[in-house]
Amino acid sequence: MRNKLDNLAIRREEDRYTSLEDFGPAKLEALEDKVKKSKYRCLFHIQPKTGLLNDPNGLAYFKGRYHLFYQWFPLGPIHGLKHWYHLSSKDLLNWKDEGLFLKPEKDYESHGIFSGSGLVEEDRLYLFYTANRRDDDWKRISSQSMALMNDKGQAEKLDQPLFVFDHPGYTSEIRDPKVWKEDGFYHMILGGQNKEERGRALLFKSKNLYDWDFQGDLRTRLDDFGFMWECPDLFSLKDKRVLIFSPQGLDRRGYDRLNIYSSGYLVADKKDLSEDFNHGDYRELDQGFDFYAPQTFNDGKDQILFAWMGLPEISYPSDEDGWAHILSLPRRLDLRKDRLYQEPHPNLLDLRKNEKIFEMGQEKIEIGNYCELELVFNKKTSHSFSLATRDEGSLDFTYDQGLFSLDRSGFGRDFGGDFGYERYAFLPEIETMRIFIDRSSIEIFINGGESVLSSRYFIDDKDLFLINQTSDRIKVKRWDLV
Ligand code: FRU
Repeated sequence: MRNKLDNLAIRREEDRYTSLEDFGPAKLEALEDKVKKSKYRCLFHIQPKTGLLNDPNGLAYFKGRYHLFYQWFPLGPIHGLKHWYHLSSKDLLNWKDEGLFLKPEKDYESHGIFSGSGLVEEDRLYLFYTANRRDDDWKRISSQSMALMNDKGQAEKLDQPLFVFDHPGYTSEIRDPKVWKEDGFYHMILGGQNKEERGRALLFKSKNLYDWDFQGDLRTRLDDFGFMWECPDLFSLKDKRVLIFSPQGLDRRGYDRLNIYSSGYLVADKKDLSEDFNHGDYRELDQGFDFYAPQTFNDGKDQILFAWMGLPEISYPSDEDGWAHILSLPRRLDLRKDRLYQEPHPNLLDLRKNEKIFEMGQEKIEIGNYCELELVFNKKTSHSFSLATRDEGSLDFTYDQGLFSLDRSGFGRDFGGDFGYERYAFLPEIETMRIFIDRSSIEIFINGGESVLSSRYFIDDKDLFLINQTSDRIKVKRWDLV
């Protein structure tokens, strides 16, 4: 079984820079067939046809459509030669497959196209990305680059990258441009690392999108906060500035920061970017097992977030089927008392079909494996219930004395166990929960997005059952989503 797949998909680190051309269309088609048969495929999440998906990139609302790109290594479930894959949609629900968008073509892109963002300006969609090349000593040289989307939806690249950042105060780990316009200038924020190997967010400024001047670090109070910051995203919300970023190398802290790498945010007053970034505490965005590299954009109405529902350096059971990872569902952001709330994008309500209303008791209730549940709790202080399978264990939800926990030990296939089997969220009380279940993924939104937990799971059986472990009644609504 394993050998068969190894012939089909690229799994070995030393083969990770194989190009699509060298792999060839026949093998790719065979791999696609293999992936189609995977029992873990989702029905309403964005997932790769083959190979590995990671960060959402280039998010934009342009000429009446949403554009979304993602990091993609087509040839197997490993972090190989990265491309951007393109999808577009009118409603964030039904996605048109627009095909490959950015592929490594130029010398300075020979070792992959990394993450970046979109900017709509004067009727054009600009895409910013990090292009990588490895030199003879295998040192990575990262160039910050730009492409335009032409009328046919194809990428038109510049002949040269915008710039290569080379500065004595920083290492060569620098990537993931996010660009926006403010006060008549274009601004770019990049993830990076200083010479002391501490994570930093670096600011650049331009008058014309082509010539960029370094402005220094974003002046946060987080001097020693992980060794590298990836995917920074700085935006305004309700008169505040929010920095979202993915710091690597944070120490675990009590019930927090349990994943291999964290993703979180800082909220600060809106001042000039050259001033101190006067922020409150770092908070994680999502308390689930599988969440990283989120990116947001504004569609003229809302600040919307997508994230990679996966993490680096962890093997997932779907790897055996030749593919890995999905994107999160879209979330609408709100800021209340300096805290980000993330609710499922309202368009997701349109997916609801066949409403059923019941109370969760101690007898099993079958809910299938593709649905939305809405739970309303009468008693707000303690609960315990499970999503159970016939004989592959259960996913257990517990809320007691202000601590919510999600336990996936013994639920289906074992993976990611080096980082523990429980995740937690602190909540003064629990009133409601919306749960999206899509075959191998679960997203749990508590109290309208006060806390969110996103996780993958891998079970054979298609049926899931709800069981209340205590005697209090929990009101449930259930909808089919497909
Ligand atoms: C985050 C990340 C980015 C990088 C991309 C490469 O997951 O490591 O920093 O641009 O993935 O795929």
